Amino acid sequence: PAVEFGLEAPFEIEYRDAVGSTNDRARELADEGAADVVVLADEQTGSRGRLDREWSAPSGGVWLSPVLRPDLPPAHVPALTLAAAVATTDAAREAGVEAEIKWPNDVLVAADGPDETDRGGRKLAGILTEMEGEADRVSWVVVGVGVNANVAAADLPAGATSVEEEVGRIDRRAFVQRLLERFDALRSDPEAAVEAWRDRSATLGQRVRVETPKGDVVGEAVDIDFPGALVVETDDGERVRVHAGDCEHLRP
Ligand code: BTN
Repeated sequence: PAVEFGLEAPFEIEYRDAVGSTNDRARELADEGAADVVVLADEQTGSRGRLDREWSAPSGGVWLSPVLRPDLPPAHVPALTLAAAVATTDAAREAGVEAEIKWPNDVLVAADGPDETDRGGRKLAGILTEMEGEADRVSWVVVGVGVNANVAAADLPAGATSVEEEVGRIDRRAFVQRLLERFDALRSDPEAAVEAWRDRSATLGQRVRVETPKGDVVGEAVDIDFPGALVVETDDGERVRVHAGDCEHLRP
């Protein structure tokens, strides 16, 4: 319960020292009918990233998965993912890390130079959203957030960083509290979530290549449209809306 964990979060907290994947545990709870519960773990032994990738989740991170039952059509769920990215970015900034968001939902430390190693910034956090529902209404949504918080450099995958690496170790309770409060405020206001995302974007204004199921889209990222599509202006001046895919920031 929230009280035991010492959080006054707007969600009930199920805390585990170790779990396979907080998303998998959250999905179990969702199948049992739970709502507004957050599964939180110190360590995950089988955590999952986007596009079936592995995600490293050693002890010391912030690994959490809220179970939500929003009154939304499935098409609007990407706005919840953006809301989580904004909440994570704001919690990181309050901890002193200069964080920004790479479309759609990678939280990066702002690139600080033209050095090759800084290109695109180092990854601080990622989000894996999963849902179930009908065509017009979702049944549940699990928004899995993984933040490399108190994780030492030696335990990070290539291209990643942690709050500890950037500014030193933090009080994870306070970090989780801020993140969940911010997320709670934005989840009921998807339009505001998209606006806030725009303000924190590392992607807008960049030349990008987005790998989509229909092929690569290359051009300038000019905007984000509700509920989370990236608008890319290609070299022949066409504006393409991309709903999902892997985004790479290219050098100008
Ligand atoms: C990504 O590929 O960038 C998304 C990573 C998402 C990792 C988080 S950690 C908490 C939750 N549980 C999981 O198994 N995955 C997500």
